[in-house]
Amino acid sequence: FLPKRKKPRDCLINLKIQKENPKVVNEIDIEDLRSTNVCYCRCWRSKTFPVCDKSHIKHNELTGDNVGPLILKKKIL
Ligand code: FES
Repeated sequence: FLPKRKKPRDCLINLKIQKENPKVVNEIDIEDLRSTNVCYCRCWRSKTFPVCDKSHIKHNELTGDNVGPLILKKKIL
């Protein structure tokens, strides 16, 4: 038994971020990080993309998914 094939729109991860661009690429210079912890979105639902705004919590509740942010930690020397 094979699952029913989804329509292409149902397979999209990115629903609304920079749709005018052929590819979404974000570049972050690690040297410019100001705070010791910065969270980057991996669920594509953040209103402050590429920075996580905790929208993944609602996304996970609605879909049963388990995504979360990428957390960059800066060591204080
Ligand atoms: Fe997308 Fe937090 S809002 S991972």
